Amino acid sequence: MEKILVLDFGGQYDQLIARRVRDLHVYAEIKAYNRITLREIAEEGYQGIIFTGGPNSVYDPSSPHYDPAILDAGIPVLGICYGCQLMAFMAGGTVSDAGDSGEYGKTSVAVSDRENVLMRNVPESSVCWMSHKDFISTLPDGFRCIAYTDKCPVAAMCDEERALFGVQFHPEVTHTEYGQRIFANFLFGICGCAGDYRVENYAASLIEKYRRELAGKKVLLALSGGVDSSVAAALLHAAIGNDLICVFVDHGLLRKGEGDMVEHTFKGRFGMNLIRVNAQDRFLKKLAGITDPETKRKTIGEEFIRVFEEEAKKIGHVNVLAQGTIYPDIIESGKGDSAVIKSHHNVGGLPDVISFDEIAEPLKELFKDEVRMAGTALGLPQELVWRQPFPGPGLGVRVIGEITEEKLAILKEADAVFREEVDKLTPEKRPAQYFAVLTDTRSVGVMGDFRTYGYTVALRAVNTDDFMSAEWSRLPYEVLERASSRITNEVPGVSRVVYDISSKPPATVEWE
Ligand code: XMP
Repeated sequence: MEKILVLDFGGQYDQLIARRVRDLHVYAEIKAYNRITLREIAEEGYQGIIFTGGPNSVYDPSSPHYDPAILDAGIPVLGICYGCQLMAFMAGGTVSDAGDSGEYGKTSVAVSDRENVLMRNVPESSVCWMSHKDFISTLPDGFRCIAYTDKCPVAAMCDEERALFGVQFHPEVTHTEYGQRIFANFLFGICGCAGDYRVENYAASLIEKYRRELAGKKVLLALSGGVDSSVAAALLHAAIGNDLICVFVDHGLLRKGEGDMVEHTFKGRFGMNLIRVNAQDRFLKKLAGITDPETKRKTIGEEFIRVFEEEAKKIGHVNVLAQGTIYPDIIESGKGDSAVIKSHHNVGGLPDVISFDEIAEPLKELFKDEVRMAGTALGLPQELVWRQPFPGPGLGVRVIGEITEEKLAILKEADAVFREEVDKLTPEKRPAQYFAVLTDTRSVGVMGDFRTYGYTVALRAVNTDDFMSAEWSRLPYEVLERASSRITNEVPGVSRVVYDISSKPPATVEWE
């Protein structure tokens, strides 16, 4: 498979660069600059290399550098921002500090050489996204300038002889109007890629690989019903059938009907070797009397591990423990010199207590949307593939205060009604995440001639791309009206419904 190396110098957009390249059907992988040698790069047979941005100044001796021989390795390179400056610096050019006149945000860029392959079909003038203070003040020998801005004499450069290209702006950011065209020009016009990467084919090749590697081995997977572990289960099941044992711990803190849906899908439809552990009573007992959110989370996490461990012990020694780790879990970007790859275990602590020989993480090269595509290709139901993010501690952190069976039942019903009403919107109008919270506030109400004293349900809906920040969603009043009216009428014990209009920050998405 043809592939591109994204050499990470600590930029904040390195994942985005890899995403953009994969969107063009070329496989891209990110490696920290201090984790791969030039020799290894040559052995891997990359079609091209992209140097990422980074927060440093190349003339600072402590900033990340690379063996300059990379420029003569015969592999095309595209440098972005810091990566462009680094290329100029390594090739003998000069990079200077612009003092107070850096460029940040949308900037008009003029292409001075449209014959150049990198700028093919990029108009003479367009908008790009800039974020830099340093700039290339003298081009290295063999390079020429191919674009500029008002403040930046070298907004793009090239040495066509050696297939070395650099852009001071960020083509990976959507604000750069012709960013994707520039990537396409680099990949197809310069690196000679064919664009043959497809998630479905990749998933098929993984199935083949695991069929070979895991033949005759017993594999254990903790299935949560979330997207990642579900897709990992479907993929491994396609590879090794019933040698895959899935343990699904139902802690009773899932949404209405979710436990049954998981069982129905994996055991019923796929015929998987699935063990469902109904542990609701156990969890409720452990959680009795606990009101502090952190203690709740910890208790749920620990109990989960204990239940899983007990089931695993019944199964005995397994050869492989499989996990639904995905690509963003294992890349830690933006760390410059301290860039490290962390092994992220979805179910913390498990490897210490379960007897197994090796770990398999079949999705560890895939981004979230690619995981969803793979899930669809593997025949998983859409409601599972497009499932909203859901906290590990589940409804445990959406029942404020002590968790009881009665409160959980109220929340499940209210949440189901709210989601049903929001789901009537067309998919593009639906918020990124929407759910109900059972507050610990009770208030007076009236039903017929009777005074009631019931719980207050809070509805929460947010719009966000990354969940790091989020805006409360401006849901249509009719949706809120229907949800409120149905919840107060259909869910006994609720006398009031409120809508959460706080954004993150300062609030968080979840209440606990
Ligand atoms: P917060 O509340 O931190 O949530 O703004 C951001 C996103 O993360 C989800 N979330 C969790 N996901 N385990 C998870 O897997 C957790 O403990 C957890 N807590 C919050 C939350 O639903 C939102 O999408």
